[in-house]
Amino acid sequence: MSKHGAVEQQLSLYPPPEDFVRRAHVQGMNAYRELYARAEKQPEEFWGEVAERELFWFEKWRHVFEWDPPFAKWFTGGKINASYNCLDRHLATRRRNKIAIIWEGEPGDQRMISYFELHRLVCRFANVLKSRGWKTGDRAIIYMPMVPELAVAMLACARLGITHSVVFGGFSAEALKARVQDLEAGLVITADGGWRRGREIRLKATVDEALAECPTVRDVIVYRRTGGQVSMQEGRDFWWHELDEGASEVCPAVPLDAEHPLYVLYTSGTTGKPKGILHTTGGYLTQCAATMKWVFDLREEDTYWCTADIGWVTGHSYIVYGPLAAGATSVVYEGAPDFPQYDRFWRIVEKYGVSIFYTSPTAIRALLRQGDKWPEMHDLSTLRLLGSVGEPINPAAWEWYHRVIGKGRCPIVDTWWQTETGAIMISPMPGATPLKPGSASFPLPGVIADVVDMNGDPVGPDKEGFLVIKRPWPAMLRTIWRDPERYKSQYWNRVPGVYFTGDAARRDSNGYFTVLGRVDDVMNVSGHRLSTMEIESALVRHPSVAEAAVVGRPDEVTGQAVCAFITLKKGNWDHKKLSDELRQWVAHEIGAFARPAEIRFAEALPKTRSGKIMRRLLREIVTTRAVTGDVTTLEDMAVIGRLAEQRGEEE
Ligand code: WT7
Repeated sequence: MSKHGAVEQQLSLYPPPEDFVRRAHVQGMNAYRELYARAEKQPEEFWGEVAERELFWFEKWRHVFEWDPPFAKWFTGGKINASYNCLDRHLATRRRNKIAIIWEGEPGDQRMISYFELHRLVCRFANVLKSRGWKTGDRAIIYMPMVPELAVAMLACARLGITHSVVFGGFSAEALKARVQDLEAGLVITADGGWRRGREIRLKATVDEALAECPTVRDVIVYRRTGGQVSMQEGRDFWWHELDEGASEVCPAVPLDAEHPLYVLYTSGTTGKPKGILHTTGGYLTQCAATMKWVFDLREEDTYWCTADIGWVTGHSYIVYGPLAAGATSVVYEGAPDFPQYDRFWRIVEKYGVSIFYTSPTAIRALLRQGDKWPEMHDLSTLRLLGSVGEPINPAAWEWYHRVIGKGRCPIVDTWWQTETGAIMISPMPGATPLKPGSASFPLPGVIADVVDMNGDPVGPDKEGFLVIKRPWPAMLRTIWRDPERYKSQYWNRVPGVYFTGDAARRDSNGYFTVLGRVDDVMNVSGHRLSTMEIESALVRHPSVAEAAVVGRPDEVTGQAVCAFITLKKGNWDHKKLSDELRQWVAHEIGAFARPAEIRFAEALPKTRSGKIMRRLLREIVTTRAVTGDVTTLEDMAVIGRLAEQRGEEE
């Protein structure tokens, strides 16, 4: 880059406001650099100190970490409990009566739950689980709406050492079944339903459909949220409130090994089968708690709100485990951002005096489109820090967020991380880092990140390459549930010796990272991870479909949109009707959020001579409607022309 370019770039940075710096946990870039250098030079001392300061340990560890590549263990020999750290520990302090969760249901109902009260609810429910015979090492699927009892269920499992797997309420019965089976769960915790845009999402009915083929499940516990119709299967299904009646409120947390499996969270990979990402206890909690201070600069008096769903990793780490371990007051909202109208988020910010607000670029873009009048209807002056997560944020959305929501006063932390990383990895520190719109800026202390080529050699400034992590970090995934081989090949064998994120990135001459998006067959739609293969395999299960190829098409609001190319089996098909049916089919097989935005029927798909579908060409077609790249391996050139001419059936 030219000298002039570097200066220009410097000028477009947003330095942290002085009054923010003065009160921040990490003040100024020198403080950041010092922390970073210490963590790099003495990782054991560094993480040992963080773990000691942020958490309560029943027994101290013998080793901070053990690295037997690619398998890491953190705080080995240490004894800890996540539920204890999120609850009991605070009861001996001034946080005892502090509000832990401010909850708002979509219909407008409201609950304020103190740490004392949350502890009480968790102990009662843990005793319910105990009385049903559930214990350390068992596995539970949690399929619930965004009600406080979802967090209660997670913390009750964690209290007893029951490994939980939360399944996002938008997943279909098929997807739920696959997860119950893969986890071999014995217990399912669910609800009658939840509210979404004024409609009831009937969860229990979906559970019933899923469990038809899940012989491992012995108990289903049903929380009553909506009061909607459910059918209860005698001997298998129990109402939460009935089991809870008379439950004891004393339930000591079980001291667990630091490496005890806290949860498995399924995410999409490059094949049709979701990966069960395994997170353990001590290291995970350490990094979640540390990032609450480094990234969110959390103070005792903050009202913190992460708008994610607890069903995704963001909700695990930054609604449940991180904020509660850090003793935060956190807002939890059940419903949609546009219900009953487009100011719901801003209404909630005003109503509860939210000071830290963390959301997704998709939400920002969707709300930006509705114009400034919605945020302008509300007093947003309590906000002091804004965050973004899940996908790249384009500079225009960043600027709007900064100007219209943050009134130019609030730093924005653009946080890069993944289900696999467990906690935030690359992000500004709001009292230190000069912000560059669209860039997640620098790795946090203890995170050694680089942008490299296929051989692992750094590509140098302003060049695009693969984003990799070069050293184990405390909250990293430990393996893929029951599939260590896939863990090795997916993450550690792609570029020799380092963790392969699956993302492309670029670093500028000042070291700022810009994450560009996935380099594998994984799409990011509204910040939700979807696998092209998973949608393709769902589509080819439909009786009309011969072949399917799915690609991501750029979308102004959702980042990417699902676009499916289909060849049909012989028959007389009504394309319009069939494309509606196929969309519905994908919703049934995976979930409504995976429904293709566009379906195109083709006589043939472009393939290489060896028969591989050339998705790159399809991506070009949906992006530019033309093909410019290399097509020398393409089998039938005419296919391309016909595909490019066609308009898809849009929703
Ligand atoms: C993928 C991970 C992290 C929790 C939510 C998503 C993309 C995430 C950013 C960001 C650019 C981002 C990446 C990543 N991503 N955050 N700040 N800037 N891209 O978790 O479903 O595991 O998806 O989301 O592509 O690999 P996930």
